[in-house]
Amino acid sequence: MEQQQQQQQHQEDLEEVQHGPFPIEQLLASGIASIDVKKLKDAGLCTVESVAYSPRKDLLHVKGITSKLVPLGFTSASQLHAQRLEIIQITTGSRELDKVLEGGIETGSITEIYGEFRSGKTQLCHTLCVTCQLALDQGGGCGKAMYIDAEGTFRPQRLLQIADRFGLNGPDVLDNVAYARAYNTDHQSRLLLEAASMMVDNRFALIVVDSATALYRTDFSGRGELSARQMHLGKFLRSLQKLADEFGVAVVITNQVVAQVDGSALFAGPQIKPIGGNIMAHASTTRLAFRKGRAEERICKVISSPCLAEAEARFQISAEGVTDVKD
Ligand code: GTP
Ligand code: MG
Repeated sequence: MEQQQQQQQHQEDLEEVQHGPFPIEQLLASGIASIDVKKLKDAGLCTVESVAYSPRKDLLHVKGITSKLVPLGFTSASQLHAQRLEIIQITTGSRELDKVLEGGIETGSITEIYGEFRSGKTQLCHTLCVTCQLALDQGGGCGKAMYIDAEGTFRPQRLLQIADRFGLNGPDVLDNVAYARAYNTDHQSRLLLEAASMMVDNRFALIVVDSATALYRTDFSGRGELSARQMHLGKFLRSLQKLADEFGVAVVITNQVVAQVDGSALFAGPQIKPIGGNIMAHASTTRLAFRKGRAEERICKVISSPCLAEAEARFQISAEGVTDVKD
């Protein structure tokens, strides 16, 4: 009974929590005319953050906007934005893994997880969909999750098992996950527009794209389409970064690997590398490489990050998602 009350309270907290991003109407309080607010909105700028992050030239091109608005919009938007520049970490479900990540998966930037098949990428995504809903003091992000599934491997049943482990109410946890299956790369990109409008109305803490590159491999083939593929992928990743900036969500993308075909393989044995080349490497703030260990054990290596050391952590996959290794 007590647990039920706690869960209800938690759900209410989750719905009530004060958060950015701020609706564009807040600019009215900074003395911006309502007609200009409407014009910005018509141009697709629905939040104060979207104005703050738009290049100046884009704002000047908003049809019919008074020139005065632009500098004023910048100042007040930055002031408001400064209030929510608070990065948090979402727990992975494994203490050892959290430790090398200095708390967990960071909000406000892109974390890429790459690794061979069955290395645990999807399982971590499932776990994060639940832990992102936990309260801040429990290692959560106190927000909803969005899941873009390009491989058809999302399993709601798994979320129920993970919810149980964290003492959350299963049906509530599922209600707080917005799910979409992506069918091709254009569709996958369009889903981000919908994601942005949903994030204006609700506090999201996480967006998962599992995997970000699978559809690129099927939609574009061969060398001839390589540059078109990279341009499309680059644009998709920039849109994801924009969501991270604008809404302060953690962006987690998974990536497949291919065998490396260069001279290094001759000396070092079979090598693998993530898909997406430089475009992918530069877009992700943190890159994690997963590999298989013994039985259910998995190993995560921090490959690149602005502030984490190049460390390794062991974790385990179980019915309850990602956990510490149970020796
Ligand atoms: P790809 O998407 O194929 O590239 O792989 P992935 O990295 O996403 O792998 P995923 O996260 O799907 O991990 C699959 C692994 O988790 C497999 O080895 C499964 O055996 C293991 N696994 C999945 N569910 C369970 C479970 O309930 N219990 C245990 N012990 N292992 C599980
Ligand atoms: Mg997977």
